[in-house]
Amino acid sequence: MTNMPLFTPVTIGKRTAVNRMVINAMECNDADEKGNPTPKTYGRYEKLFQGSAGVIFLEAISVGYESRARKNQLSVLPHNKDALKSFVSALKKVNPEPLFIWQLTHSGELSQPDFSRRVCVKPLPGYEGDVLTESEVEEIIDRFAQGAKIAYDSGADGVDIKLCHGYLGTQILRPYNDREWKYGGSWDKRSRFAYDLYDRVREAVPDPDFLIGSKVTLWEGIPGGQGTAGPDTAVMDLTEPLDLVRGLEEHGAHFIMVSAGNPNLTVALAHPDRRIPEYAYLHHLFQQATRKVLKPETVVIGSAYSIFRDGNNNFPAAEKENKTLLYWANKNIREGLTDLIAIGRQSFADPLCPAKLRDGKAEEVSWCTLCDLCMELLVRQKHAGCVVYNREYAHILAESRKNEGNIEFKPV
Ligand SMILES: Cc1cc2nc3c(=O)[nH]c(=O)nc-3n(C[C@H](O)[C@H](O)[C@H](O)COP(=O)(O)O)c2cc1C
Ligand code: SF4
Repeated sequence: MTNMPLFTPVTIGKRTAVNRMVINAMECNDADEKGNPTPKTYGRYEKLFQGSAGVIFLEAISVGYESRARKNQLSVLPHNKDALKSFVSALKKVNPEPLFIWQLTHSGELSQPDFSRRVCVKPLPGYEGDVLTESEVEEIIDRFAQGAKIAYDSGADGVDIKLCHGYLGTQILRPYNDREWKYGGSWDKRSRFAYDLYDRVREAVPDPDFLIGSKVTLWEGIPGGQGTAGPDTAVMDLTEPLDLVRGLEEHGAHFIMVSAGNPNLTVALAHPDRRIPEYAYLHHLFQQATRKVLKPETVVIGSAYSIFRDGNNNFPAAEKENKTLLYWANKNIREGLTDLIAIGRQSFADPLCPAKLRDGKAEEVSWCTLCDLCMELLVRQKHAGCVVYNREYAHILAESRKNEGNIEFKPV
């Protein structure tokens, strides 16, 4: 066993995570046509549960099916109840320890029009869709509350109300949403959606043991994006995101997962890669800023740690041992920038990574190469997973490139 801060327990709400390593939400687009988990979904999560992270986030699961980003996305609707319950029960048998938190989402303007209804709050160039009415947004809020109740009844430990990465939560929160309506214009009106969501979710699941929180983009990196100073400037201004996380805390958030960017528009910011690894340092700043404004009992989860690997990376001016994932995770936790750290792509590359690091077997970890070929699979609407360490996904990608040719997304 190790004495690293990363592998010490932490209290989240009334629950305990056995360590501070978190599996980030990672969509894999491998549900069946009803939005239920398939044997492939089971296989992925069983491995993650064997990996012994303190917290495992379920990938973005859609609160509605008519508007969704992935063709084979999981959904959390009444007809999914039994399948989701069996899913949780199977995973808890593999390992009862990890807290299992579901990321509830609505994709809004990122819903794919080829197979679903694209909707928006204010048309963004390249992402136009049907403009949502107030009553449609209220219906969506009901769907989130329904999703949370299904998650609770299925045995999940909590929900992550997704407010990041350009999905509907972001679309409503961003200054670009300057349309004058119940959920747009002033910050009070734009943030009201998130607070209404929290209130409705808590009403649907009054159990105080059930965790609520959000993954939040602090700066989206587009004009008028989340964390900018106005509807037509890209200048970073954290006033609103920091006010938001404080407001979420007041409305019952137990955790905030800090993120940045929008994988459709500013991918290197959302998933720091070899082109601009320094974006990972910006994530540290966002984690620290969030940590500073919250009460000690509201935990902060930092994301975007895959880039650090085993120190074999492009970060300049540091010895190899001072630029590893373990180095930055332990340092940032020790120095109070964040309470837990999450891995996204690294969990694809090696789902057993947390257990290996805990057991002092870092040399056995298959480190993510940051090639973003898994992202290319997702953009191609294929089953997503690690192309480098799993032949099955390498084959899917090769076939798709052969049959469908090049696409706009350029991996690293
Ligand atoms: C294939 C793929 C799927 C993803 N799916 C989700 C998702 O469902 N929800 C989410 O919030 N972020 C998603 N992300 C972003 C990751 O959770 C994470 O924020 C990002 O990859 C940065 O972390 P990392 O550097 O550890 O990979 C996805 C990223 C990739 C590459
Ligand atoms: S495909 Fe590349 S970026 Fe994705 S998990 Fe595997 S090594 Fe990492």
